[in-house]
This record gives sequence, structure tokens and C-alpha cells, in this order.
Amino acid sequence: MAELEGLEFGKSDFVLLDEVTMEQFMENLKLRFEKGRIYTYIGEVVVSVNPYRQMDIYGKDTIDAYRGRELYENPPHLYAVSDAAYKAMKRRAKDTCIVISGESGAGKTEASKYIMQYIAAITNPSQRAEVESVKNVLLKSNCVLEAFGNAKTNRNDNSSRFGKYMDINFNFNGDPTGGHINNYLLEKSRVVQQQDGERNFHSFYQLLRGGSEEMLQSFHLQNDPAVYVYTREGAGTATSNNDRSSHKAVMSALEVIGFSKQEITSVYEILATILLLGNMQFESDGESVNIVGDEAVSHISDLTATDPDSVSKSLLYRTVATGGGEVIEKGHTEQDACFGRDAFAKALYERLFGWIVSRINSIIEVKDYDPVLHGKNTVIGVLDIYGFEIFDNNSFEQFCINYCNEKLQQLFIELILRQEQDEYQREGITWQHIEYFNNQIIVDLVEQPHKGIISILDEACLTVGKVTDTVCLDTMDTKLAQHPHYTSRKLCPTDKSMDFKKHFRIRHYAGDVTYSVEGFLDKNKDLLFQDFKRLMYNSANTVLKEMWPDGQLSITEVTKRPLTAATLFKNSIVALVDKLGCKEPYYVRCVKPNEMKSSVLFDDARCQHQVAYLGLLENVRVRRAGFAYRQPYARFLQRYKMTCEYTWPNHLMGSDREAVEAIVTQHGFQDDVAYGHTKLFVRTPRSLFTLEQERATLIPILVLFLQKVWRGALARTRCRRMRAIYAIMGCYKRYKVKAHFWEVEGRFSNVRTMADYGKSVEWPKPPAALSQFHKITVMLHRRWWARQIVKNIPPSDMLEVRAKVAALSALSGERKDWGVSRAWERDYLANVLDCPQTSSSFIRISKELRNKDKYNQVLFSGFCRKVNRFNRSTDRGLLITDKYIYKLEPKKQYKVLKKLPLDAFTGLSVTSGVDQMVALHTSSQDDVLMCLQRGELYPNQDRVGELVGAMVDHFTRVRKVQFPVKVCRSALEIHMRGKPKSISVETKAGQTITDFKKSKDGFILLVPAN
Ligand SMILES: Nc1ncnc2c1ncn2[C@@H]1O[C@H](COP(=O)(O)OP(=O)(O)O)[C@@H](O)[C@H]1O
Ligand SMILES: [Mg+2]
Repeated sequence: MAELEGLEFGKSDFVLLDEVTMEQFMENLKLRFEKGRIYTYIGEVVVSVNPYRQMDIYGKDTIDAYRGRELYENPPHLYAVSDAAYKAMKRRAKDTCIVISGESGAGKTEASKYIMQYIAAITNPSQRAEVESVKNVLLKSNCVLEAFGNAKTNRNDNSSRFGKYMDINFNFNGDPTGGHINNYLLEKSRVVQQQDGERNFHSFYQLLRGGSEEMLQSFHLQNDPAVYVYTREGAGTATSNNDRSSHKAVMSALEVIGFSKQEITSVYEILATILLLGNMQFESDGESVNIVGDEAVSHISDLTATDPDSVSKSLLYRTVATGGGEVIEKGHTEQDACFGRDAFAKALYERLFGWIVSRINSIIEVKDYDPVLHGKNTVIGVLDIYGFEIFDNNSFEQFCINYCNEKLQQLFIELILRQEQDEYQREGITWQHIEYFNNQIIVDLVEQPHKGIISILDEACLTVGKVTDTVCLDTMDTKLAQHPHYTSRKLCPTDKSMDFKKHFRIRHYAGDVTYSVEGFLDKNKDLLFQDFKRLMYNSANTVLKEMWPDGQLSITEVTKRPLTAATLFKNSIVALVDKLGCKEPYYVRCVKPNEMKSSVLFDDARCQHQVAYLGLLENVRVRRAGFAYRQPYARFLQRYKMTCEYTWPNHLMGSDREAVEAIVTQHGFQDDVAYGHTKLFVRTPRSLFTLEQERATLIPILVLFLQKVWRGALARTRCRRMRAIYAIMGCYKRYKVKAHFWEVEGRFSNVRTMADYGKSVEWPKPPAALSQFHKITVMLHRRWWARQIVKNIPPSDMLEVRAKVAALSALSGERKDWGVSRAWERDYLANVLDCPQTSSSFIRISKELRNKDKYNQVLFSGFCRKVNRFNRSTDRGLLITDKYIYKLEPKKQYKVLKKLPLDAFTGLSVTSGVDQMVALHTSSQDDVLMCLQRGELYPNQDRVGELVGAMVDHFTRVRKVQFPVKVCRSALEIHMRGKPKSISVETKAGQTITDFKKSKDGFILLVPAN
């Protein structure tokens, strides 16, 4: 029961009709057709009406919607039965078949293609290459078979002129592993003759219109179907087929399937041969018959790789074995020659078609399958066979086709009834018989031994001497006069719709068909002169030779009469029915809405006729007479348990059956159902409908409820998960912190006793959470470490240490040599070791100055070379105390030449080099420029660093003011009496002492080269 469709589209299952009458059936069918719902169920049977327009119902979305679903879960569709067949095959390892029936143009072939596409789409989800290639060949084979087996008829532009039954084999995985195609009764008479407005097989037009110039030339053909007798009738008819593009598609399909280049060429050579044969003409000179023109023979011999003489001989003579084992050649009459030529052309085409099918089969056949290794091999068969045909002129082919449909109807009745009956029996339910028309009587009329039409035809063919079609009709009239389904003009002289000696009529289950007996015997005999068979067998073309194995026999060996066409056909159909009979059948019954190929026209009379003969009403009745619906208890429960308080959400009863009873009783359906062993049977659809409706109203509430519960559950799970994550993260973080502490503790536990107080100990990398803490502890350790170092410095050394620290930061690494490694003596002028000659006089003068100027401390003293604004440079003694800076004259016992208060100085500049130049800046822009001179004590060591350290330390620590130090990479910038000067340093060869020299913008300090 399809739920997704509203009632405005009619009933999706005919079983749901209020009354099973033709009116209601037709009304529903029409309504659905008009609403674009081309599929409707009768239980599991799909009734399909040809829409004659592209429907948007075959795409990937639709396939996904039907995949793995039950029949009642979606609107009726071919895909639903395909899936049901596939599921039965896969789940229950059953062989299944899908039988598609309906008259020409009802949409059987299209349906079979959609079914194949669906099966291809839902299988092989893992995309295994070998399975994909099998699927590809199966799908491509359609294109080839259509080219060679289909033609435009007046009823269908792409009418299948052969019956097709295709088995697809599946492995235990449910993936296709191969297949097999059976073809039935190709309408070969079409090769030589077509009805008005119809065409020959597509393949001819495809070759002539789509073949390349070069190809046609090599086949001795012209690209115009009107030139050839066999294609002339169809050359001008408008058709929806695009022959040119189809030709390309067929060529590529042949290649994909696995036909070799040579095989493909041979196929087209045979088509060319047939076309050339058709144009061949004979003329008689009264004595013998000849072929008109020489070209035809030579071209045919070229195309068939045979000897030209043999070609013309087989066309003009026939070899006959006389009673005495002698062989003679008998010339044809003109008429015989034409007959022989046409028979040859038809046979060529028939064998070509048969060979193509068998070649495809050899490729897709399941190879190396071992059931022990690979599991059970199951099959889905798809039958697309010609439907019932009633033409104005019905001949032997229609007779065979209609017989075939009688047989299939038998199978339908048999299977549908048998299945029902079996099921009721299995489930222990009494079955009530339903009347339906059993067409066995018509089948017997055709196939019964001795009495049946086929056996009468065969007998006539066997009879030696001239038995004509009319004689044969007479025999039938005599033998079948009493048969209720047979009549003829002779048996019913008043019926003017039949002619004497020409027509007979069979009352088929699908309607009356009047056959014209003309040509029946010839077609049944299917005579082809042996000479052609031998000619083809002797071809040098191996492909051609392969098609004609019976040409091997010599004329004297051919004695046994071959089976007649009707008997061959009957045998193949009996075999087919047997094959289908042992499979689980699924039916698609196609209805043709009108004769105009219109997408809007619903021809009531035509449709009603089809519905009647397809036995669809009986089908509905049979389905309803018993029980319209049945479902295993568990499934029924699953579907409807929400409609009963005792079963929702789960029942507490002894069995599912009891639970189902509770549902049924609650709804008051107890008189409308029967309980089988495993299934519940519901008689009227209305009961089920009520359940369905109730279910439909409950579902949204349940859905909301389930959503609520599920969303809550989801949220709770998510919440629990988050909490767990945080807990884990917390533990881990704590662990990391602790581990870091332990590590630090381990590494630093002995630092007190270490010689370097742990300076060389490497810190472990801290976790991110401790990075700030890490910085602080590192700093703490450094401070502690510094404290340990500083603690041990004697107070007398403190001044020097402070000065060095001040110098270090003031020079900030820019001056390489700053004398850090030596002891800083400060007061060099007073140092005996540094200035042995003058120290005593300096000590005296410095004492006087201390008394007079009250300074406390000497920051620095030493010799220097000084330059003044008049460019005079002289040697001076320099004394820097905490109050003044003194310039002293060393040559006059350190007489004070100049005294400057220390707070007049604002900073100093030095270079980054090794020179000893110092510029002391003053607030009055009258700077002091000098170059320190080194004494005896450390003659090669820097003193600039010491001066810088002493001054900076004093200013910052004692005076608490900044004393900026500028380290210049090139020239020093100073002012003298407010004037800017630049002092650069130059190394000069030959210079004996370091001295200043005037330059353009200031001074140059000349340094000796060594
Ligand atoms: N499901 C369908 N959707 C669209 N067109 C269809 C469908 N079925 C049939 N037809 C149309 O009807 C034509 C005849 O269908 P086809 O399957 O060849 O008939 P059959 O095999 O029964 O003789 C197709 O060529 C196509 O144009
Ligand atoms: Mg068809």
C-alpha cells in the first residue's frame, strides 16, 4: 500500500477498489494516467501505462528511494518490483523472473531497460572491476540487440522484432557475475519486405546513413537507403530514430562488449551482402536464367570471401540428389531464383542475429563458477517478449506470437493461482475457488499432437507432392470444425469478414484474430536451398563460416528433414515456460493507452480491451477473493503496534500472534481476518486502510516523541562526553604540572653545594600553564644565584664590581675591549706602579685638593692627550673626583690648570673601537675631548671602560641622575663653545704617538699603525 500518494491520484492498488468492476477499474486506470501516475499495483503485479513522454521518475533519487524498500513503502513503480525480485533472490536465494507482457508499443522494452538499470545501480556497491564490466556488457548488449532486432513499425518506432529472455546470474553477494540471453523467433521476413510505412531492421539504415564514406565504399554501398530494394520502403518514412548517432553507439558498444575488429567488419559485410542481394535481378532468355549485370556477383563474392562462380551457381541452380545416389544440377526458373535469393537474404540475417546473441553470451557467460567455493548462484530472469498482435493481415508470424502469448497467459494463471493456493494450504486456511477463464483450450488448439494446428501444418509440409496452403486450410477445417475457438468461412459461411480458401480465425483469450493462410506452408518449411549453406560454409571468412556449420554436409548426406519453423518455435516456448515456471515470478503488465503515441489520449475502448484480455480483473478478483493482504505476524505487529495500547511500544504476550489478535480485536476486525500459521490474512482492504489511516495520524506524534527522546539522549551523551573530556584534561594538566615540579626539584636539589650554584643546570620545558611561573622561578634562581656570588665579594672590591656592572650595561656590548678582565685601580696617577716618577707629587697635590675642595672620592685619574678649540693638543693629567674634574699640568707638579664642577657634565661619548678617545659632554655645549694614555701598569689595556664605569656608577648610584653613554661606530659628535665638531679615528703609518689633528669639520684622531 503506497502511502506517499493522496487519493486524488486514484488508488495505487486496484485491490483497493470498492467494487471489482470494469467501470471502476477503468476509471481508476484513466484517472491515474491523467495524473501522470503510470504505475498501479494489483498486489505485487505492476500495471504500467505507456506515458509516451519522458517521465522524471527514473533518476538516481528515485532509485535511492526504492532501494531495499518494501512494496508498500513507496508509490507503485517498476523499481519496487525489481527490488522485490532482487530481495527475494538475495535474501531467500530464490531464482526469480520478471515477466513483462503487453502488446506492441505498450512499453515492454522500455520497462525491461529500466529494470536492468535499476539492478545495475543497486548492485556492486564496492565497485569491483570485474562486476562493473559484466554490468557494462549486459547494459551495452541492449543497444546492439536493438539495432539488429528492432525496427520501426506502424505501432512503434522501436519495435522489438524478436523475443528476448535474459538471465542475470548473481553470486552470493548479490552482485552480477554474468548472464545469458535467449532470443525467440526473429521476424526475418522483414528483411525482404515491409508493410507500407514500416522499415527494415534499424541496422541497415544505421549502416547506410552512419557508415563512413570509406567503409561504404569498401562494402560497395551508397549512402542512400532508397537505392536498395530491401530498404526502399522505409527510406522515406519519418522516424524518431537517429540512425547516424545510433551507428556510432552500436559500433562502440560492439567494441566494449568484446567483438574483435574482424568480427565487426564481418557483421557489416553480411549486411552489405544482404542489401546487394536485394538489388539482384534475373532474366530469362527462354532457355536458361541469368543474373543481370556482373558487378553484383563479384561484389558479393568479395564481401563473403567466396568464389564468384560458386556465388552465381548457387543463385541459379540447385543440386538435387536422385534416388540412386546420383547428383544433378537443376536450373532455377526466374521465380525460383528470386525466392532462393530472398530466402538466402533472410537466412543470412537470421544467422547473423543468432550469432551476435551467441557471441554476447560467450562473453557474459559465468565462467569458472564453483558453487562450493562461491556459494549458490542465483538468477533473475527478465522476459521482454512480443505482445499479442492483431493486424489487418495476420500471417504465420502473428500466429506464432499469439500462441506464445497464450502460453504465457497459461503460466500467469497457473503461477498466480498456484501461488495463492499453495500459500493458503501452507498456512492452513480454506481456499475458496474463483472463476477465471482458463485458456488451456486455446493452447491445445494450437499445440496438441495430431489434432493441433501446428501438427496439421507440419504434416502438410511433410507430404510429398504439391500441398498448397488452401489444401492445408481444408484439413484444418475438417479436423477442427468442432473446436469452439476455431472457425473459418467454410465453417461459418455467413461471416463475410473472412474469405473462402484464405482465412481462418482463432478466438484467442485476447480477442479474435483472423489469419490469412497464404504463405503459412512456405514459412513453416522455411526452405533454404542447401547450395547456399555449402557456399557460406566454404567461405574464407571464418566468422561467416562459423554461422553455417550445417553447410558442411554434402548433398547426399542431407536426408533427415529439418524441424519446421512452427515446431522449433513451439519447442523453444515450451522450454521458456519451463524455465520461468521454476522461478518466483514478478509481473509487469503493460497497457498501451492509444494508437497515436499520444501522451494525453486515453482511448477507453483500446484500454478496456487490453485490461480484459490481460485478465487484470480476474487478477484483482483472485487477489481479493482470498485475502487481499497477508503479512507475517512480526511484520504486521511492527507496522501497526502503535494503534493498540497493549502492543505499544512492546507487548507482554506469549507470542506475536496473540499481540496481533489484540490489535485486531481492539479495532473490531475479528470477522474480517484469518490467522494462518505464520501470517495474518486480511480479507477486505478497508480494514487495512483503517489501520493505515490510524497509523498515519499516530506517526507524526510518535516521530515527535522519538525525536524528543532521541535529542535528549544525544544531548546527554554529548554532555557526558564533554564532562569526561574536561575531567581527563584536568587530570592530565595536574599531572603535567606535578611532573614539572618533580623534575625541577630533582634537577635543582643540589644547587647549594654546586660550584656554580646551578647556573649550568638546564631547566626542563614547562607545560603551557606554567610558563609565567617558569619565567619567575628562572628569575628567582638567577637572583639567588647572583646573591650567592655577590655575597662573597669583599666590600673593598665592591666599588670595582659596581663600576664594572655599570660599564657593562652602559656600553651594552657595543665596545669590544673595555678592560673587564683586569683589576680597576682608578687612581692611576697616584699609583707607584703606574707612574713611578710622578706619583708622589700627585699624591701631595691630590691631598691639598681634597682638603680644599672637600671631595670624598677619586673616581678616576690618569694621563691623557687633550685638544682645545684652538686645535692645540697637549698632555695633561686628568683627575675626576666626586666634586670636580681637574685638568693638571704634569710638567709643573700637577698644577691645576682647570677645575670643572662634576655636575656640569651630562654624559659622554666613546667609539666602539680600541682607541682610548673620550668626549665628556657638558650642559653648556663646551665639551672636553681627550684620549686616555696608558701607564706602566697595564700598557696595552683599555681604560675607557673603567672611566665610563666609574662615572656612570657614581652618577646613577650616588647622584641618582642618568648619565647617558653614547658608543659611536664612526665619528664622535661633540660641541666646543657651542660649535658642532666631528671627530673621526684614522690609523696612520709612521705616526709615533696617538694625537689629534685638525680636520675640515673637527678633528681626526691619528693612531699609530702598530
Ligand atoms: N516508461 C516510459 N517512459 C517514456 N516513454 C515510454 C515509456 N515506455 C514506453 N515509452 C515510449 O513508447 C515507445 C514504445 O515502447 P517499447 O518499450 O518499445 O514498446 P514494446 O516493447 O512494448 O513494443 C518507446 O519507444 C517510448 O517512446
Ligand atoms: Mg519491444
